[in-house]
Amino acid sequence: MARDTWATRIGFILAAVGSAVGLGNIWRFPWLTAANGGGAFLIVYLVVIFVVGVPGLLAALVIGRRANRNPIDAFRTLSNGSRAWPLLGVLFLVTTVVLLSFYSVVGGWTLNYIVASFTGAYGGDPGTYYEAINFGTTALLYQALFLLLTAIIVGLGVRRGIEMGTKVMMPALIVLLVAISIWAAIQPGAIEGYVYYFTFDPATVVANLPSILPAAVGQAAFTLSVGNGAMITYASYIGEDHSLPVDGSAIAVLNTLIGVLAGLVVFPLLFVFTGGPGSGGPGTVFVSLAAGFAALPYGNLLGVAFYAVIALAALSSSISMLEIPVSYLIDEYDVGRRTVTFGLLVLVLVTGATNSLNGELFTFASGPLVSMLMTAGFIGLLLFAGWVLRSEAIAEFTLGAGPVADVVAKLWLALVSVALPLFLGYSLLQSILGVVGVSVGWTVTISVTLVLGILCFGFLYRQHPDTVLNPTSTPEKPNDD
Ligand code: PHE
Repeated sequence: MARDTWATRIGFILAAVGSAVGLGNIWRFPWLTAANGGGAFLIVYLVVIFVVGVPGLLAALVIGRRANRNPIDAFRTLSNGSRAWPLLGVLFLVTTVVLLSFYSVVGGWTLNYIVASFTGAYGGDPGTYYEAINFGTTALLYQALFLLLTAIIVGLGVRRGIEMGTKVMMPALIVLLVAISIWAAIQPGAIEGYVYYFTFDPATVVANLPSILPAAVGQAAFTLSVGNGAMITYASYIGEDHSLPVDGSAIAVLNTLIGVLAGLVVFPLLFVFTGGPGSGGPGTVFVSLAAGFAALPYGNLLGVAFYAVIALAALSSSISMLEIPVSYLIDEYDVGRRTVTFGLLVLVLVTGATNSLNGELFTFASGPLVSMLMTAGFIGLLLFAGWVLRSEAIAEFTLGAGPVADVVAKLWLALVSVALPLFLGYSLLQSILGVVGVSVGWTVTISVTLVLGILCFGFLYRQHPDTVLNPTSTPEKPNDD
């Protein structure tokens, strides 16, 4: 059976932007920003996106297009049949199931709030309403609906489902966001939201860097969908050799612009409605903002539009998650897409139910667990591109990318093979220590990271001495069959 491909380049870019723009931008980002000091977080996050996120995204695109396969198979074939590297693909699948399990809970909330805004259900008391529906059978029902929508799009295929779907969803989302941000801008009190969002105090950044940095790194991986194979999978459907550096940068820039735009909606509204950045935490956009919509004349319509934006963003991301195991099963077992998709729907409904029925599990999965899993996966894919592919990675990076890419490629490879894995390793270690409840100073964490890094690089060097010693020869692209 011929493998699916995107119909158009813009189709691929929009689908990838659809994957990137999601709850991460509109739901997770505002409360992370509020919890990490407003503008101080924004600036660190923006730097991290471009220094860490973009090179990482490019590594994923390089691996995906090179292999034209699902992540597990990509690691197997590109490492010439290694048994260890496909385990990284297995980690991706596990991460994806965890991700979908909690993501669909929030996706379900957004659907619930579209209905509730319309009927005025949360009008009386948004706090109580949120508490009543966030976990339990109502949450489970809406989660199931959200997963069903996801499965329908994925079941229709790469071109007719994902590409067509995101081509409609992304423009709709941008138009709605722009409209609501204009509405927000003319409300009295909006200005304080902008001040909070954009004021950047260097002293706060420096003082809080050890805690801001891991949060920013986790968020960068989450928002760009790197660290669980989503971008590897999407890039595996690229048929032509167009420039990956250009496409990757376009995806990151669009994701950041839409993320910042979402902030221009959420922060002014929070200040207009509640006089502050909100209590923080997952309920922010569901409680504080709902209170505002309920108080306004025609606020219910605004509420419908606002929650529709979040639902669209969430859906275009969840399809990219579900597509990862779908592509694996189709590639590997030659079964029909629909059968596979609906089989997985049932599986995720079961694992997801644990999250919609149990708030504590949800909090753990959506917070520390997913950020540790994704950071670990991110490190793995960087090391793979940087040490196993190495010369092939450079060849793929520069393919169709013009002469400038030759220069950029070497710098990129240096970042991807050494600097970023060490940096992410540091970040991962800090979050693990945080979860275990051990607190050691950053000097200790850095030293341990370096020791582990040297051991890890020594191991990689022994496993793949040829690629390491000969980084610039350019082998042929492997056959697709
Ligand atoms: N990038 C998505 C968001 O910001 C989340 C996501 C992570 C999607 C990993 C796919 C893979 O909401």
